[in-house]
Amino acid sequence: MQSYLEFKTFAGRRVHLGACGSIAVYKALELTRLLQKTGVSLGATLTDAAAKFVTPLSFEALGAYPVHSSMFNVPGEPFGHLEPGQNGHVMAIVPASANILAKMAHGMADDMLSTQILAFDGPVVVAPAMNPRMWNAPATRENWAKLKERGLDCIEPGSGSMACGDEGTGRLAEVPEIYCRILRALAPNDLTGRKVLVTLGPTREPYDAVRFWSNPSSGTMGAAIAVAAWMRGAEVSVVRGPSNVLLPEPIRTVDVKTAQEMYDACHDIWPMCDTACLSAAVADFRPVRIGDHKLKKSTVQGDLQVRFESNEDILKSLGACKKNGQFLIGFAAETEDLPENMQRKLESKNLNLIVGNRINKPDSGFGVPTNEVSVLNAEGRFESWPSLPKTEVAWRIWDFVSGR
Ligand code: CTP
Repeated sequence: MQSYLEFKTFAGRRVHLGACGSIAVYKALELTRLLQKTGVSLGATLTDAAAKFVTPLSFEALGAYPVHSSMFNVPGEPFGHLEPGQNGHVMAIVPASANILAKMAHGMADDMLSTQILAFDGPVVVAPAMNPRMWNAPATRENWAKLKERGLDCIEPGSGSMACGDEGTGRLAEVPEIYCRILRALAPNDLTGRKVLVTLGPTREPYDAVRFWSNPSSGTMGAAIAVAAWMRGAEVSVVRGPSNVLLPEPIRTVDVKTAQEMYDACHDIWPMCDTACLSAAVADFRPVRIGDHKLKKSTVQGDLQVRFESNEDILKSLGACKKNGQFLIGFAAETEDLPENMQRKLESKNLNLIVGNRINKPDSGFGVPTNEVSVLNAEGRFESWPSLPKTEVAWRIWDFVSGR
């Protein structure tokens, strides 16, 4: 699991996982393991077909309790079919078979899982997996459309080659995507209605056809900020410099390389947003390009001299056209005088909040999963936080913004 998805703020929340028969059911075990790490508690129900592929004991061994596998085999627990509806905050059906989609669409309750789903009135996340011909069958199409219309969080299956050898749509969505969608259903929705822009990653400033100027930013801090905002209900757009971070599908992502491209993308999106958090490590300077060819070393006499010109400060330019009601968050990457530099950047870039991080500490800044930051808002509220996972820093930034 990518470090920027490892949120641990879900203690006290409860998920009930329903698993159907499919070779993909082993991924429900992986999901159980990942969800456990967030602090949630889990129960599970396996259909008869699921129990042919994995055993209830596998889920129990990973900490799920109780684990149901049939309607009538739990002595002393006559109301197991109602338990998820009484205690669970979210039901997640992973993998969902064509059969369970049909039962859900029509309100059938003829086994433990379908009965529990019918008796559950909270949010339901559904991630199907089946043969492409079953997925494309008119009945399945109708059932799926009905579940979407009813407001369930329906995660589209992926395409590719299937275990049976067929090609097409029907592969279970990626586990991190399902995990994020479940956490979103569990998270507070204090950012619902907000439209948030996040920048992340480095920029690359080309010099010739093969060389560029850049920095070691991985984009993980920005990814944690974007995912946390989305989990808490915001509509999120990300402008991503070259970075490997993968974001949940509902987050709109615009890929850019240079600071100029990032500038253009941000100015396209900012007028439609009420909040922006610019965490990208933008190169302040770009080499004056020598053209589209590769510089041959045989043409250089002695040392290579490279001339640089300035890039626009994107954050400052967004601050300059900020409208009433827009909230702008910037970062300050510093090696010394953190509070003074934060205050100066907050004022000179017209920010509402600045997050200062020390980039010369081993557990803070570029390329590590933790960060030690201070925050300062325009009203003068200042806090210094210890070194924390970047996910925790992201969560606290949004707490700070929404006054939680
Ligand atoms: N930033 C930006 N565009 C730039 C440079 C920086 O949008 N061309 C943003 C960063 O995303 C960050 C903030 O400005 O949110 C501060 O970046 P930082 O590198 O700390 O500071 P600079 O403003 O570049 O100033 P200095 O070099 O003096 O530290």
